[in-house]
Amino acid sequence: MSNVWVASESAAIEVAGLTRWFGQTLAVDSLNLTVKAGEALGFIGPNGAGKTTTMRVLATLDEPDVGDAYVCGFSCTNDPDRVRHRLGFMPDAYGAYPNVSCIEYLDFFARSYGLVGRERIRAVKRVLEFTKMSHMVDKPTTGLSKGMKQRLCLGRTLIHDPQVLIMDEPAAGLDPRARIELKEMVARLLDEGKTLLISSHILTELAEMCSRVAIIEHGHLLAAGTVSEILEKYSAQEVSESGERLTMVQIGFLGSGEALLGFLNQRTKGELQIKGEQVECVLPDNPEIWAGLLCELVGHGFQITSFIPKQRSLEEAFLKVTRGRVQ
Ligand SMILES: Nc1ncnc2c1ncn2[C@@H]1O[C@H](COP(=O)(O)OP(=O)(O)OP(=O)(O)O)[C@@H](O)[C@H]1O
Ligand SMILES: [Mg+2]
Repeated sequence: MSNVWVASESAAIEVAGLTRWFGQTLAVDSLNLTVKAGEALGFIGPNGAGKTTTMRVLATLDEPDVGDAYVCGFSCTNDPDRVRHRLGFMPDAYGAYPNVSCIEYLDFFARSYGLVGRERIRAVKRVLEFTKMSHMVDKPTTGLSKGMKQRLCLGRTLIHDPQVLIMDEPAAGLDPRARIELKEMVARLLDEGKTLLISSHILTELAEMCSRVAIIEHGHLLAAGTVSEILEKYSAQEVSESGERLTMVQIGFLGSGEALLGFLNQRTKGELQIKGEQVECVLPDNPEIWAGLLCELVGHGFQITSFIPKQRSLEEAFLKVTRGRVQ
C-alpha cells in the first residue's frame, strides 16, 4: 500500500492501515475500513479485538502508531478539531456526576462545544425530544436506569448535531424494550442522513440495525459485507456426499409421529429425527422440493402445523469467522 492515503469522497469514515501497540500488545494491526456516507456499519469482534481502540482513534482521543483514520475526509491526527465538529463519540461507559440533573448534564456538553444563547437552548431541547427524555430534565444523572443512561449519553453525543456517530457497544446491558428503542433511534438517525459505526460482541444484535458489518479479531479485519453475504460465505451449510446443498426443515405435526416418520422415510433420503411434536428432516436446499413434500403430506392426510426451513445462524457464522483467542 502507498503511504499517502487519499480519503475517498463518498466515505464518511475511513480507517487506513491503522496500527496501535500498547507495550507488547498489538491492539490494532494495519486495519482498513470504510463506512460510506449515510450507512450504519456494525463493528463486531470478541473481547480485546481492538474495537474501542479503533473508535478512540477516530474520536481523536488516541493516536495511531502507524496509519491514520479520516472523518468526512479530515485526518484524525492532523486535523482533530475539524474531526471533532463532525463526529459524536458515545463511549461504552459514561460518567454520571452527583448533584447534576439531566438538563444540566446536556447543557454542560452544549457549552463544551461552544454553543451559546438560543442556539444552546435549541440544541438541548432538540436532543431531549430526540431521545424522548423531556420528562426527565430535573432527574439526577445518578440513579437513572441503564436504558435512560444510554439515552442521555446518546443525547450528549448528538448535542452538536454531528454528521458521523461512533457508538461503542450501545446495546450492552439493555433490556429488550430498551434495545428496540435503541434500534428505532438508530433508524431515525439514518433517516436524518447520519453515518454510524456501532460496535458489539454480538453479530445478531447489530444485524437488524446495520446494513453492513465488519468483523475484527486481534486487530485484523476478518470479514466485511452485508449480513446476507457474511451468512452465505461463513455459515455452516450441510452438503450431501454428492455435493448437493442441504437444509434442515422442521415439520410440526399433530397425531402419530411414527406414521409421519414412516412416510418421510420413504420419500426422503436425508436424516430424520423426532423432537417433541416436530420432525427434523434434512432436505435438498430447494424450495420446490419443500413445497412438493408439503403438498404430499397434506394430501396424505397428515395434520401439519408448521413447515420451517431452519435459518442459517449468524452466531454460527461469527464463530466460524473468529478463532476465539482472547488477548
Ligand atoms: N490503554 C491500554 N493500555 C494497555 N492495553 C490496552 C489499552 N487499551 C487497550 N488495550 C489492549 O488492546 C487490546 C484491544 O483492546 P480494545 O479495548 O480495543 O478491544 P475491544 O475490541 O474494545 O474489546 P472489548 O470487547 O472487551 O471492549 C486488548 O488486548 C487490550 O487489553
Ligand atoms: Mg471495547
